[in-house]
Amino acid sequence: MHRETEKITEIVLKAARKARRETQDTPEAKTISRINWPLDCTVGPGLEGAIACETKIGFVNGTRGELTYCGYDIFDLCAYSTFEEVSYLLLYGRLPTEKQLESFKAKLLAARSLPHTLRMLMGFPLEQMHPMACLRLGTNLMRQRLTWQDSDAARPKSVRAIAADEDSIPMETLPKGEEKAIYEFKKAKAERPAEVPVGTTDAAGRAACIHLISGLATISAAVARVREHRLPIEPDPELGHAANFLYMMTGKRPTAEQERIMDIALILHADHGMNASTFASMVVASTLSDVYFSIGSGIAALSGPLHGGANEAVLVMLEKIGHPDNVDEWFEKAMRRKKKITGMGHRVYKTYDPRARILGPLAGYVAKHDKDAALLLRIARRLEKRVVATLGKEKGIFPNVDFYSGIIYKSMGIHRNMFTPVFAVSRVAGWTARVHEYLKKNRIFRPRALYVGEFGKEYSDVSVREKPAAKKARASRA
Ligand SMILES: CC(C)(COP(=O)(O)OP(=O)(O)OC[C@H]1O[C@@H](n2cnc3c(N)ncnc32)[C@H](O)[C@@H]1OP(=O)(O)O)[C@@H](O)C(=O)NCCC(=O)NCCS
Repeated sequence: MHRETEKITEIVLKAARKARRETQDTPEAKTISRINWPLDCTVGPGLEGAIACETKIGFVNGTRGELTYCGYDIFDLCAYSTFEEVSYLLLYGRLPTEKQLESFKAKLLAARSLPHTLRMLMGFPLEQMHPMACLRLGTNLMRQRLTWQDSDAARPKSVRAIAADEDSIPMETLPKGEEKAIYEFKKAKAERPAEVPVGTTDAAGRAACIHLISGLATISAAVARVREHRLPIEPDPELGHAANFLYMMTGKRPTAEQERIMDIALILHADHGMNASTFASMVVASTLSDVYFSIGSGIAALSGPLHGGANEAVLVMLEKIGHPDNVDEWFEKAMRRKKKITGMGHRVYKTYDPRARILGPLAGYVAKHDKDAALLLRIARRLEKRVVATLGKEKGIFPNVDFYSGIIYKSMGIHRNMFTPVFAVSRVAGWTARVHEYLKKNRIFRPRALYVGEFGKEYSDVSVREKPAAKKARASRA
């Protein structure tokens, strides 16, 4: 192993030792074993505490600050595994043998190249769109290309399409008829595309999951390039997933350390319980829609500043603070205004987020060779101290996964508006795995809302309705 990457592994192991030391006295969080429906549980606003299903994929112990994928501790996976192996673990529920891993990697490699999807995607003004909107569109285009319903083979025969629909395409058909049509439908191939998800349960087939895990990296990288007025780069089959992603995004082959750090970041973000984007993906899948649509919903949910969008917002915040000496004043003002500090706090963790325990020291590692990162890190560390001293014990507010990741990504040459897509490139492994698992015992999600509105109101015609202000004015005049 490369000496520098060994140093990175040692940073992860050191963080693991510190985490175990600091949390060993904390009692285990109560865990659920098997569900016996119907279940009694206490539910708070935002469905806090609600149990949606059983899973063997991952567990977040918010009391002790532990994260587990299929029984393996996140610190061990970061120290010894790769994103490819972790994706296999999440999808199949076990670590692969050497042969299985090679075959899985070959499938990921084959799914990297998306010329048709990129061709369609680049017809949109990507440079003017939010990268998460581009990514969401990209997954829909992957579906367009690969699902049976939308494939070339399923298109109407050109002759019938023109004859049956002349009115709707007048500009494309010359008066002399379809013989002279200037619009041509591509000749349809009769066979069904191989390994393509059809219908409902197949739609979450592992082929589609692998297609999405690989494809999201290609699309994100292409979007990053186009937004910088550059053309997308062909994937490099010699590079692993993390290195190839960085290469396709930045145009530079990453160093061994950069590759290792990106690999760790991808492992860390791959799954995280029933978070908002995972739940969004599962809700869509539970209707027996397909995995492309459900991942598109996950991307949409992840884009919000309370979820994946926080990593970008943290960098904006740190840059705005500008200098470690400004932290105290900025923080006090934020507290006076009851502002939430981005990158801090978590619905489940009421202690230090284990992912931040790894990303913090890794930010320290990259800052050694990067002046800008060093300044941002000094600001971040000072802010962390203030937040933890003020809100740590009282409200359980500590740094979360988004607090340090932006400093690392920026130092790798990734533009901040691509941070959330990088998150999605990793989380797609968890989304697809959980959708795949849930569909085996699917039941459509359908919670209820308590109606607190009125009943029995008399309908009035629009012409006689008064605005409340006008009604009030009339009443006060009377
Ligand atoms: C993640 C988050 C949405 C969790 O929200 P939640 O579980 O609904 O927590 P609540 O908003 O109910 O907060 C509980 C209390 O902690 C406080 N709190 C929560 N996050 C806080 C933060 N980042 N900074 C300061 N105070 C915070 C709230 O003001 C509230 O205090 P109160 O009880 O006096 O009203 C929230 O912590 C947050 O907005 N964090 C910043 C955004 C972020 O980093 N998101 C990425 C998450 S990985």
